[in-house]
Amino acid sequence: MNIEVLLTESEIAEEFVESVEARDLPEKFFYWTTQSVKAWQALEARSGDSLRGTWETLSARAADLTKPFGNRVPVISFGAGEGLKDRTILRALAKAGREVRYFPVDASQQLLETACAGAEDDDCEALGIKADISSPMHMVLAADVSEAPRLFLMVGNTLGGFDPMDQIRHVADCVKKGDILIIDTNLHPGVSVTPTEEQRRFVFAPLAGLGVTAEDGTIEFAERQDDRLDGMSLLTRRFMASRDLRLHVAGQEIPVARGERILLNFRYLFTAEAFRWLLTEHAGLRVVAEIPGSDGKFLTAVCIKA
Ligand SMILES: C[S@@+](CC[C@H](N)C(=O)[O-])C[C@H]1O[C@@H](n2cnc3c(N)ncnc32)[C@H](O)[C@@H]1O
Repeated sequence: MNIEVLLTESEIAEEFVESVEARDLPEKFFYWTTQSVKAWQALEARSGDSLRGTWETLSARAADLTKPFGNRVPVISFGAGEGLKDRTILRALAKAGREVRYFPVDASQQLLETACAGAEDDDCEALGIKADISSPMHMVLAADVSEAPRLFLMVGNTLGGFDPMDQIRHVADCVKKGDILIIDTNLHPGVSVTPTEEQRRFVFAPLAGLGVTAEDGTIEFAERQDDRLDGMSLLTRRFMASRDLRLHVAGQEIPVARGERILLNFRYLFTAEAFRWLLTEHAGLRVVAEIPGSDGKFLTAVCIKA
């Protein structure tokens, strides 16, 4: 298995200590440990079926979409996770006789290994890239692993775990003439939704890994409209300590006082119009196809450079 490392485990561990000290845990730490990965898989299993139709449609169209690429199709997936969705495309392309090379990009060593191993089980050549996709430099280095034309994927609402106004521009900077980007978002349901037990466990997992228990505090979910764009809203999750705590992080003791809050990862949700605006007017991409999820919860867009 080949994995190129732009982001080392010791860099991640250092950032984790700093993040706990700052009371603000970025998205990458919610997939870092085995405990977090298990909690995420349980969440995915629960919400699993809603995107099946989308990926069947994309797989059926994959060979046609990438016809101008010729025989060789490099597939670069930002925030690939286990690569389960990506593999449906890889398989469809291989079935159409294309020579596919797969480049999953992720900060999680465990998920990256799973993505590479899965592709290799399907006889697809894979090179994992362990990188921080919130860094524009890492994004460019990861994209440069192959020359255009390339098929980029950023799916499973990966975009919504970052500030989308900045992140989509970093993604769009990687997309050159001839490349294709498939990207999706969770659509706003129009009403506020009560978080499921799986969602609660997923957001709590990094703290649980530090020994924090349900008796040590509460998780607060809140939603607000982001004033920068109509139809773009932010779902935040915060832990509030209900007693004084001493967190042991990488050999350091970090005290957290009763009443203090720790920001957990967030999710951006869009209306279809806001998502289109973000891709086109804001990021300078052209949407050539849209695939709505069967239950109206997701929207997937196929984009090229405008
Ligand atoms: C919502 S999951 C989606 C995974 C996959 N694309 C799917 O659809 O199943 C987000 C993925 O982005 C990765 N990720 C989060 N923050 C990251 C960062 N800063 N750099 C690299 N990967 C990151 C996580 O490890 C996770 O695999």
